[in-house]
Parts: sequence; C-alpha cells; structure tokens
Amino acid sequence: MVEIAGQFCLEGRPSEVKALGDGFINDTYTVLLADSPVKYILQRKNTVIFKDIPGMMSNIKAVTEHLKRKIAAAGGDPMRESLTVVPAKDGRLYYESDGEYWCITVFIDNSVSYDKADSELLAECGGRGIGRFQAMLADFDGELVDTLPGFHNIRYRFGQWDKTLAEDPAGRAADVRDLIGEIESRRSEMLDFFKLIEDGHIPLRVTHNDTKIANMLFDRSGNVLCVLDLDTVLRAPCLYDFGDSIRSYANTGAEDDPNPDRVSMSRGMYEAFLRGYLSEAGDFLTDTEREWLPFSARYITYEQVLRFLMDYIDGDRYYKVKYPEHNLVRTRAQLRLLRSIEHQLFPYNGHYVK
Ligand SMILES: Nc1ncnc2c1ncn2[C@@H]1O[C@H](COP(=O)(O)OP(=O)(O)O)[C@@H](O)[C@H]1O
Ligand SMILES: [Mg+2]
Repeated sequence: MVEIAGQFCLEGRPSEVKALGDGFINDTYTVLLADSPVKYILQRKNTVIFKDIPGMMSNIKAVTEHLKRKIAAAGGDPMRESLTVVPAKDGRLYYESDGEYWCITVFIDNSVSYDKADSELLAECGGRGIGRFQAMLADFDGELVDTLPGFHNIRYRFGQWDKTLAEDPAGRAADVRDLIGEIESRRSEMLDFFKLIEDGHIPLRVTHNDTKIANMLFDRSGNVLCVLDLDTVLRAPCLYDFGDSIRSYANTGAEDDPNPDRVSMSRGMYEAFLRGYLSEAGDFLTDTEREWLPFSARYITYEQVLRFLMDYIDGDRYYKVKYPEHNLVRTRAQLRLLRSIEHQLFPYNGHYVK
C-alpha cells in the first residue's frame, strides 16, 4: 500500500498507510509521510458501484477547482474547505493496478465528524452543509460526466418496473398486489413532477447525491468545514439532494425497520434540515424549486419503495439481502415513511392510509 501511495505526487515519501474504517462504499486509508506532517486519504474506489472511475475523478477535479476558487474569493481556506485531488505521477487522477483504482486526496486534519444526524441541531448543520455546497456550485458551467445514468429518473424506473411485473421472474407478484397498488396509485403524480424536470422548469444543477452527515467535516465550533465524498456529484435537480436528505435524516426508524410502527417522518428533523438548507440555498433557488421542496421528499421516498419492491419481485438481484424477506421489509418500512411524509406535508391530497 505504501508502494501504491508512492505512485502519487505527494509532498514527501510515504512511510505508513493505516486503514480508516469509516466509509461504506470505498476502502479508505490514511497515508503518513516520513518527513512531513502532511497527511493524505488513499481510497480504493468501488468499481462494482462506479463503472467509470476516470470520469468520476474528472468530475471531482472540476467541481473542487470551482469550489476552491469560490472559497478563496470569500477569504476561506481552500485546502480545508474543499477536497483536494492529488494526481498520480503520470498526471492521471487515479492509479490503476490489476483492475483496481486508487485515488488520493489531502487529509483534512483537526476536524470533527459524526456518524449519524441524531439531533435537530445536526440535521440543521447537514442542511447548511448541502445548501452551501450547492450554492457555491450554482454557477458551475463545466462539463460533468453522467456517472450514474438513470439516477432518480422515475420514467426509467417505471420502464424497469413494468418489465419486472410482466415477467414476474420469482413468481412473487401475486402476493404483493396491495403494495403494487401503492406504487400504481401514485404513478401519474410522480410522472407529473418528473415532467417539470424533463421540460426544464426545474433546472439541473450540481448535486452531491450522498448527503449523509458522515460525508461532512465540521470545525471545532460546529460549523460545516467541508463536504466530502464527491464520488456521486452529478448534474441533477437540487431537489434530489433535499428529498433524499429528508428520507434519511428525518426517519424515526431504520430504512429496513422490521417494525414499521417505529418509522415516521420527524417533523422536527424535517424543519431543522429545511431551515439549515434554506439559510444557504435560499438565494439561488427559483420559486418553482422552492415550491416543490416538500414534494421531493415524497418523490425520492416513493422511488425507494418502488426499487425495493421491484427488487423483491425480481428475486433480490440488486440489493444485498440479509434474509429472504429483507426487500419486502424494506418496502414496508419505506412505505410507512412515505405515508408519514404525505400525512404531514400533504394532508389534503387523499393519499393518507392509516
Ligand atoms: N480528505 C479527507 N480528510 C479527512 N477525512 C476524510 C477525508 N476523506 C474521507 N475522510 C473520512 O473517511 C470517511 C470515508 O470516506 P468517504 O469518501 O466518505 O468514503 P465512502 O464513499 O466509502 O463513504 C469519511 O466519512 C471521513 O470520515
Ligand atoms: Mg462516505
């Protein structure tokens, strides 16, 4: 591993590489130098999830260069408030060996991180972090590779859904008719929302797409220092980040909670995230984006219900399952969250089911 680190343009000779067990997607390590206090983060990127690592890294480079210009102009410290991609000695943004892709960024020291947003204060911090990230990128006009085609595209999902239902490969559809009905009864509303995106009424911006609190670093006084984990930056509506954040930050239960009674949307967490988000994103959002913020929580949660149920019907081929009914349990738990969002944010549109 020290040898791999040595393939990059570091400020000195790498002497030690230590595992950092925090991430879920990539394998992450810290790199120490023999002759300098500068530290780095070395990652083996997950090639099962990410099919185009060079494209992904060029996205990260483009986005962080933009962020750094903004941070410097505002009098901040670009080395601490943005990730810094360190190129390999051959000039590439990654080092490839035996089909594995390795990347290095500068380690941001003296920071605080959290595993989970378990208070309204942290939800508000998370909202501020993502809002600020999006705000700094609101005028980004560079090219970005679409590294996750079909991401949150409900028209594409319905294409997969219709095919899966027609084929019913695991013979499970008949047993989940009620759940299929939950998807179908909302189909046209979801497509109506997606049409606003297709028709350009809701703009594509630069979004993060993995907005959990563990992907942010804070300074000692609790301010968001830096948004990390830029593997999934895309051109997409910023409502996707907002909706997905609510889906995860505001859930009182687990995504796969076996007891759906534990699952609901915490109104306090919702309001806290919204407050933090709008404090940073309020200036660039259009009226249409603002108007559809609550719906985005419904949209993203609905999509997740659909995807879990579709994978169950498909015979559990996409999501890893820990037990045979796992995807069904996930479907029911996320459906409960969806209903709670609808009940609280859309009390009059007739979708509330006890
Ligand atoms: N540049 C960095 N400086 C300090 N800590 C970092 C840096 N990059 C990543 N980390 C830490 O490593 C963890 C995992 O990295 P991340 O890029 O989020 O990987 P994953 O995609 O596997 O979640 C982060 O949650 C953070 O705690
Ligand atoms: Mg992460």
